[in-house]
Amino acid sequence: MLGVTGSIAAYKAAAIASGLTQQGALVDVVMTREATEFVRPLTFEALTHRPVVSDVLALLPGWEIAHVAMAHDADIFVVAPATAHTIAKLALGLADDPVSATGLSTQAPGVLAPAMETGMWQHPATQAHIGTLRQRGWIIVAPESGRLASGAVGEGRMAAPERIVDVVKHVAARGGDFAGWKVAVTAGGTREAVDPVRFLSNRSSGKMGQAVAEAARDRGAEVVLISTVSLPRLEGVELLAVESADEMADAVLGALDRVDALVMSAAVADFKPAAKAGEKIKRRDGTPQLLLVPTVDVLSTAKARRAETGRPLIVGFAAETQNLLANAREKASRWEVDLVVANDVSLEGSGFGSDMNQVTILRSSGENLDLPLMPKIDVAHRLLDELVKLRRR
Ligand code: CTP
Repeated sequence: MLGVTGSIAAYKAAAIASGLTQQGALVDVVMTREATEFVRPLTFEALTHRPVVSDVLALLPGWEIAHVAMAHDADIFVVAPATAHTIAKLALGLADDPVSATGLSTQAPGVLAPAMETGMWQHPATQAHIGTLRQRGWIIVAPESGRLASGAVGEGRMAAPERIVDVVKHVAARGGDFAGWKVAVTAGGTREAVDPVRFLSNRSSGKMGQAVAEAARDRGAEVVLISTVSLPRLEGVELLAVESADEMADAVLGALDRVDALVMSAAVADFKPAAKAGEKIKRRDGTPQLLLVPTVDVLSTAKARRAETGRPLIVGFAAETQNLLANAREKASRWEVDLVVANDVSLEGSGFGSDMNQVTILRSSGENLDLPLMPKIDVAHRLLDELVKLRRR
């Protein structure tokens, strides 16, 4: 259920309704009368293909009170935008409009995205009500600083719709098939410093690792994402920002003992400059010769540690530009990990930088799972399906 109240940010609630619907949710919208002054119910009906309730006295066919029946059905109740007035009503248990009445009748976990002027947000009354709601288990998506309706700049702008949708997905993940799992995921290409301004790197965008982290989070896992890239922050995912292969190795080995699965989608450099110049290398000093040395092999180090502790499950990624299967098979038998995801990074529209990927998953049984070109988030879910099967065994 999405409760919309009377703030100019109500127009952004349309993006939330649309985002949740696109993620497969059934979205029932309830609105205060003031909210309907900003956005018409028709907007939400068109987006969700479901009736909108904006009258606390509305009845459904069969004489059920609309907001009460919907509130009983709800899995999550999101109030976005939440005005200072609605926040006060929710905290006090007032129920004279469809949104506050839903707040009182539903058992569903609540998510609240406040939107108001800085002064109203910082007022002790509002902060006390927020404290009360937090104590009752409401998740507060803190407002951001930025331009407000008045033209002033300050704290109070409703969080971005994408962030609110991400919070809802995190809440919805409770009880998924990865509940109780801890998963570490590496993402992105490492950067190996040549001097203070230059580095050696590769074309990995980190999108595949980000997708695995998101998919695992959405299925209830506790996720630590060890990444070299700054992609949109995933709600509920612990982010460890790293740059070089050495830093990635430290982060992976630090997390290893507390995770059930390690998914190594990062493209870790195989070589790094033997030494990093202390100052920027000057052109006038002539063409430098770059001496490279091998980096730490994170996968092998993790595997060696696993030999002592017995955990976690490990997934390696094999990025190839030729003889995909033969090369990946050779790596699979050398690495002896649980799964290898083989990835032809020379294919157009797949792999590095793309939102799509075409992979083959090599199981240790020798049986391959050939997947067609699909969005990286779908590849991530197929990979997690394989991990679930492995753990059951
Ligand atoms: N990897 C790692 N440590 C490194 C390099 C790579 O742990 N120093 C991991 C990557 O995270 C990935 C896997 O090893 O999961 C495979 O990387 P890839 O470059 O495909 O394999 P290599 O064995 O380096 O083979 P190649 O000769 O093709 O580079």
